Amino acid sequence: MNIESSSFYPILCICMILLCLPNNSASERCNNNDKQVLLGIKEAFKNPHLLASWVPSEDCCDWYLVKCGETNNRIVSLTIQDDDNLTGQIPPQVGGLPYLETLWFYKLPNLYGAIPEQISALTSLKSVRLSWTNLSGPVPIFFAQLTNLTYLDLSSNKLNGVIPSQLSTLKNLSALHLDRNHLTGEIPAAYGNISGSPDIYLSHNHLTGFVPQTFASSDPIRIDLSWNSLEGDISFFFGTKKRLETADFSRNTFSFNFSKVQQFPPSLIYLDLNHNQISGNLSTALAKLQLQTFNVSNNKLCGMIPAEGNLERFGNTAYLNNTCLCGAPLPKC
Ligand SMILES: *[C@@H]1O[C@H](CO)[C@@H](O)[C@H](O)[C@H]1NC(C)=O
Ligand SMILES: *[C@@H]1O[C@H](CO)[C@@H](O)[C@H](O)[C@H]1NC(C)=O
Ligand SMILES: *[C@@H]1O[C@H](CO)[C@@H](O)[C@H](O)[C@H]1NC(C)=O
Ligand SMILES: *[C@@H]1O[C@H](CO)[C@@H](O)[C@H](O)[C@H]1NC(C)=O
Ligand SMILES: *[C@@H]1O[C@H](CO)[C@@H](O)[C@H](O)[C@H]1NC(C)=O
Ligand SMILES: *[C@@H]1O[C@H](CO)[C@@H](O)[C@H](O)[C@H]1NC(C)=O
Ligand SMILES: *[C@@H]1O[C@H](CO)[C@@H](O)[C@H](O)[C@H]1NC(C)=O
Ligand SMILES: *[C@@H]1O[C@H](CO)[C@@H](O)[C@H](O)[C@H]1NC(C)=O
Ligand SMILES: *[C@@H]1O[C@H](CO)[C@@H](O)[C@H](O)[C@H]1NC(C)=O
Repeated sequence: MNIESSSFYPILCICMILLCLPNNSASERCNNNDKQVLLGIKEAFKNPHLLASWVPSEDCCDWYLVKCGETNNRIVSLTIQDDDNLTGQIPPQVGGLPYLETLWFYKLPNLYGAIPEQISALTSLKSVRLSWTNLSGPVPIFFAQLTNLTYLDLSSNKLNGVIPSQLSTLKNLSALHLDRNHLTGEIPAAYGNISGSPDIYLSHNHLTGFVPQTFASSDPIRIDLSWNSLEGDISFFFGTKKRLETADFSRNTFSFNFSKVQQFPPSLIYLDLNHNQISGNLSTALAKLQLQTFNVSNNKLCGMIPAEGNLERFGNTAYLNNTCLCGAPLPKC
């Protein structure tokens, strides 16, 4: 044994003893109300392994999956995620954490039931992610009252009913993810008027009808309406003044004459239109974009794929099953 390691071990031992000394309650940062609420949540989930660090003798600011605010020491973040064992409904007790800014229940396949009304009391919320769970019931209208929300992700659940138009009043949203649910009805016209151009993801639902005309003056950066039963003309999403980067309109029954679309947002890098009823031809303007993903397969397009530019490199699967598209990468016209 060399000198370095023999002097290292006593120091290590002292450090470990110091770390293991119990906190005295005078130095506990945790707010006692918050602690009781969290213990109630733990009990509602029947004391799961995931919440084993939540014990009364420890400062709740040191528990896993929660965070206390720097100045007020109140619980500002609760992120319960990635656990197949956690079983139950979202405990109504979460409504008793009034300083909560971040609330995540994420990748919990055995979390079920409706989103509880009590969340409406959490007016400080900025980031809500209730996603990849078995939650069902409606998209709550009360989220419209949580005006500080910047991020609302309710994707990949079993939510049903219609999309509440009221959420359009949220002024500070950067993302609204309602995709991969069982939502029905039409896209509310008011969603074309949401300020701040949030990312809007509504894919993999059962939405029907036309995309409202209000979207003509909207300017989203990312939009995903794929895998619904939407119809009509969506060419108003294009134009040189728009900032659109990523657009997925695939797997619907959109129908319009693509020949009439001669202007595209210069920022567009992802455009998926596969499986629709789009007619006309592909404009040379498309070929000039810096597209990284492009797919117009399974439509009613005709004519030559513009040769000069960037369209050839997507391969023939991007163009298959159209009425009479031709030219590389498809066979010659
Ligand atoms: C889930 O439960 C099983 C069986 O009780 C256990 O072995 C496993 O560690 C648990 N997983 C988690 C993440 O708690
Ligand atoms: C999810 O909910 C459905 C009912 O909506 C139920 O039949 C199913 O067993 C649940 N799955 C899990 C993993 O809890
Ligand atoms: C909402 O956010 C603003 C700005 O961050 C803050 O001043 C205000 O207190 C917040 N409102 C609530 C209810 O937390
Ligand atoms: C909107 O959110 C930003 C952070 O994304 C924040 O700085 C700003 O204060 C918020 N505004 C309001 C009105 O809440
Ligand atoms: C959307 O905004 C336009 C222009 O401000 C307004 O005329 C229209 O009534 C709004 N529509 C909805 C459904 O909010
Ligand atoms: C599409 O528009 C072009 C240009 O305006 C026109 O020549 C063509 O006939 C139209 N095609 C269909 C199927 O309406
Ligand atoms: C597409 O069709 C229009 C009108 O039908 C025609 O003017 C244009 O040259 C065609 N574009 C290409 C790339 O073939
Ligand atoms: C071709 O595209 C149409 C329109 O999207 C679709 O209905 C049809 O199933 C597709 N055919 C094949 C063989 O994929
Ligand atoms: C285009 O979409 C079709 C249908 O989903 C798919 O089979 C094909 O692989 C896609 N091709 C490209 C290049 O994205």
